Amino acid sequence: MLVFDHVTKRFGANTAIDDASLTINPGVITAIIGPNGAGKSTLVNMAAGSFRATSGRILLDGVELQALPKYRVARAGLSRTYQNIRLFDGLTVLQNLEVALVPRSLPRLIAQALRMTGRDECETRDACRAVLNRLGIAHLADRHAGSLAYGQQKLVELARAVVPRPRAMLLDEPAAGLNHGETDELKAHIQALRSPDLAIVLIEHDMKLIMSVSDEIYVLAQGSVLAHGTPEAIRDNRQVQEAYLGQPGAMGNIEAAARGRRNRVRIRAGEGLAWGQP
Ligand SMILES: Nc1ncnc2c1ncn2[C@@H]1O[C@H](COP(=O)(O)OP(=O)(O)O)[C@@H](O)[C@H]1O
Ligand SMILES: [Mg+2]
Repeated sequence: MLVFDHVTKRFGANTAIDDASLTINPGVITAIIGPNGAGKSTLVNMAAGSFRATSGRILLDGVELQALPKYRVARAGLSRTYQNIRLFDGLTVLQNLEVALVPRSLPRLIAQALRMTGRDECETRDACRAVLNRLGIAHLADRHAGSLAYGQQKLVELARAVVPRPRAMLLDEPAAGLNHGETDELKAHIQALRSPDLAIVLIEHDMKLIMSVSDEIYVLAQGSVLAHGTPEAIRDNRQVQEAYLGQPGAMGNIEAAARGRRNRVRIRAGEGLAWGQP
């Protein structure tokens, strides 16, 4: 279980996360939605050890993640994808996955050097290939990541998050920029990743995707949890609808706008969808 316990994050005078508490359960898909700037990526960055919380605790199976260096957070069982793709363009797809498994502490490196046989390497490679296979991109294993189409790179990012067999996997806008078909494919993959031991967090603007795959939704607005519930409860929540557009019935408009190529450009104020932001 991944818990954000009264977490606050300030960047100078800007309070990005304001006393937010979330409980993310294994076995289910938990969506976090909210307007741009709500603090969604900041939650991921804090959990993954990129930012330290100003106050509050983030716990994975009772282990306080904020007390760990970044590489230990990954070893503690947390993996994530980035809103903006971060692959090594000059490495092959397989190498990008293997990098995710490289031990980053010196003692482990030494231990591994003493232990590591050709067989271990093969096992690692086989595990990576198995994940590529599951995501339908095994044929891309030896291609340079930089040479792939955008949608393929998004899947490689997902594969890289799956390979370490995490306990919690945080996906930051995995469908952004994908077309209809690619989004459907991604949806199937996310559903297939569901497992009793894995907590999946899905951050998205595509309401159709969110409503169809998530079991629970947190709505974040200006760094605070505005609402939490089932997709149905969130869809019918008047407060949430007002936060999105300032009027009830707004969810349908959001969904319509998020469909297809339009989600390439994330919904932002000024595009006709304001999420109640100034
Ligand atoms: N590294 C950073 N330095 C300063 N401010 C940041 C940084 N990252 C995010 N912020 C600020 O924190 C707030 C939340 O941003 P973010 O978490 O990216 O929102 P979201 O992912 O919901 O769009 C925004 O006001 C943003 O400007
Ligand atoms: Mg973000």
